[in-house]
Amino acid sequence: MEKSGWLLTKNHLNDIVTITVVTKTEESYEFAVRGIEMNLNIACVSGDGIGPEVIAEAKRVLNKITEEYNHNIVYKDVLMGGASIDAYGEPLTDEVIGIAKAADAVLLGSIGGNTATSPWYKLAPELRPEAGLLRLRKALNLFANFRPAYLYEELPEACPIRKDVIGNGFDMVIVRELTGGLYFGERHTKEVNGVITAVDTLSYSEKEIHRVAVKAFEIAMKLVKKPNQFDVILTENMFGDILSDEASAITGSIGMLPSASLNETRFGLYEPSGGAAPDIAGKGIVNPIATILSAAMMLRYSFDLEEEAGKIESAVKQVLKEGYRTVDIMPQDKNQCKTVKQVGTETMGKLIAEYI
Ligand code: IPM
Ligand code: MN
Repeated sequence: MEKSGWLLTKNHLNDIVTITVVTKTEESYEFAVRGIEMNLNIACVSGDGIGPEVIAEAKRVLNKITEEYNHNIVYKDVLMGGASIDAYGEPLTDEVIGIAKAADAVLLGSIGGNTATSPWYKLAPELRPEAGLLRLRKALNLFANFRPAYLYEELPEACPIRKDVIGNGFDMVIVRELTGGLYFGERHTKEVNGVITAVDTLSYSEKEIHRVAVKAFEIAMKLVKKPNQFDVILTENMFGDILSDEASAITGSIGMLPSASLNETRFGLYEPSGGAAPDIAGKGIVNPIATILSAAMMLRYSFDLEEEAGKIESAVKQVLKEGYRTVDIMPQDKNQCKTVKQVGTETMGKLIAEYI
C-alpha cells in the first residue's frame, strides 16, 4: 500500500474481508466485512388463534440466528385459514400456493378457531380453515410429516409417567403420512336399510407407502440422539394425528412438539403440532417452544444449517434448565412450582433468543 490509501484482504478460511484504510496523516483503520452466508426465503403464515403470538417469537429467535451467523432472511407474510376466509372468502388462495412454492420453506403458526362459536364453521367443510392447510399440504406434496417427541431431562416433572417406568426419558419421532389416507379418502353418506350410514375410505398406493417409509428410514439414522431409546413410528395420516397428540401428553404439553412436513426435495413446511387454541389466544401465555423448535427443524432440513438448528435446541434446553416455564409446562405439584419461574410467551421467546 502507498502511504495513504486502502487495501482489501480476504481471509479464505472464514470469508471475512478486511478493508484497511490509511489516511494522509498515516492513521490506519480496519473494517471487517463479512459476506452474506445464505439467503433464506420464507413464506410465513401467522394464521389464527395463538398463531401470530408464536410466530412472533419464532421470528425473534430466527432473526437472532441470522444475525449471529450472517444469513439473510426474507419473510413473505401470507394469509391462510380463518384469516384468509375473512379477507378472500376462502381458506387458501392460488396466489398463496404460488408464493409458498416460490419460497424455500413455509413457517406456519396455526389455523382454525372455536368450532362452536366461530362463523368459519358455518361454512361448507371445504371452505373451513383446516381445509386450507390440507390443500396446501397436498399442493406442495408434503407427504412426510416428522413429529419428534422428546422428553427433556430439563423438564422431568412434565411427564406424568412414573419414574421407574420412564427410566431416563424417551426420544421418538412419529413419521406421519400426510397427503393420503382417511383425510383425503373418498367419503359419502347413504341410507342402508333405512339407516343413514357413513363411508370413509382409507386407501394407499404402494408408491405412497414406499416414499414415506424411505423418509422414515432416513430419519432413523439422522435423528438419533440416544440410540438405546430412540424409536421411529411410521403411521397413516389420521392415526399419526392421534398418536402425536398422545405423545404430547407424555412430553408435558403439545406446546413442546414441533413438526416438519417434507416432500422429495429440500422444501418443507414447519409448524407446531398443536392447534390454534382460541381459548388462550391473545393472552400472551401460549408456549412458543414448539414453533421455535419447528424453526430449528426448518434450518436443519431445508437449509442444512445443522449448527444453527442445534444452537436453537440448546438454547431451549438451557432456558428450561434455568427453570423458566410457560403455564402449560408448570409442575402440578405446588412445592415444585416454587423451584421454577412462570413466564409468558414473549419472555420465553426473548430468553431463548438471549441464550443463542
Ligand atoms: C395437525 C392438525 C391438522 C391435522 C388439522 C388442523 C387439519 O390437527 O396438524 O395435527 O389434523 O392434520
Ligand atoms: Mn393434530
